[in-house]
Amino acid sequence: MVKVLAINSSPRMSKGTTALILNLFLEGMKEKDAEIEKLYTQKLNIKPCTACFNCWFPTEGECSIRDDMDDILPKIAEADILVVASPLYIDGITGPMKNLIDRMLPLLEPFVELRNGHCRHPLRVYSKPGKVVYVATCAWWKLDNFDPMILYMKAMCANMGREFAGALLRPHASAMMYLKATGKSVDDIINAAKESGRELIENGKISSENLKTISRELVPLDEYIQLFNQGMEESIKSARKR
Ligand SMILES: Cc1cc2nc3c(=O)[nH]c(=O)nc-3n(C[C@H](O)[C@H](O)[C@H](O)COP(=O)(O)O)c2cc1C
Repeated sequence: MVKVLAINSSPRMSKGTTALILNLFLEGMKEKDAEIEKLYTQKLNIKPCTACFNCWFPTEGECSIRDDMDDILPKIAEADILVVASPLYIDGITGPMKNLIDRMLPLLEPFVELRNGHCRHPLRVYSKPGKVVYVATCAWWKLDNFDPMILYMKAMCANMGREFAGALLRPHASAMMYLKATGKSVDDIINAAKESGRELIENGKISSENLKTISRELVPLDEYIQLFNQGMEESIKSARKR
């Protein structure tokens, strides 16, 4: 059975737009009998790495910090698929997600080897070289807002000896809620997110058609700007009345 560990770092947890896409993707994987575990960083205590390098020596493979990473690190090591789900925060992943990724260092040996012409640390024998899928939503309209994070995810995978298996990206994500509320269909996106999960388990990869559908334009740019500013104006007015 394929083991999937999904970590969502939205502080809105199940009420957020990241969860909307992530949960459909996980549903698709579950339909193909994957074993799924989902975690929210908001509910976890994961401190930042202190760069003590105790996980290299003297306590090989073991971090000096005692927190929830004690339970999560073995799960990451055993996962065939790690799903990194994060809203875009100032062009990056959220702080708690970065802390979690940095704390994956104990999965690497201190030695250096050449992999694809780059200096890398070998993976400890008990850590699977699994796949990583990035799930992200953002507020801005254009898909290229995710470019810095796609680069980061690919680099992180090369560093951590994992395979980057694709990204489910939803720009102007709140427009999904707007369209749903105004009775317009987003069924193609819902189906593509589920189908992406089924495909990953069945074929080991996600088709570019489905990824494209998940990211498709929801409203034209000028309408997005108008709706966004209108929403902000209304929110400010009602907040001032309180
Ligand atoms: C601190 C902060 C920083 C953000 N930075 C960006 C950003 O740089 N670009 C962007 O498009 N959206 C940005 N957003 C908006 C979120 O990415 C967006 O609302 C996302 O869909 C929220 O996902 P969630 O509902 O799962 O929490 C930011 C939001 C917050 C709270």
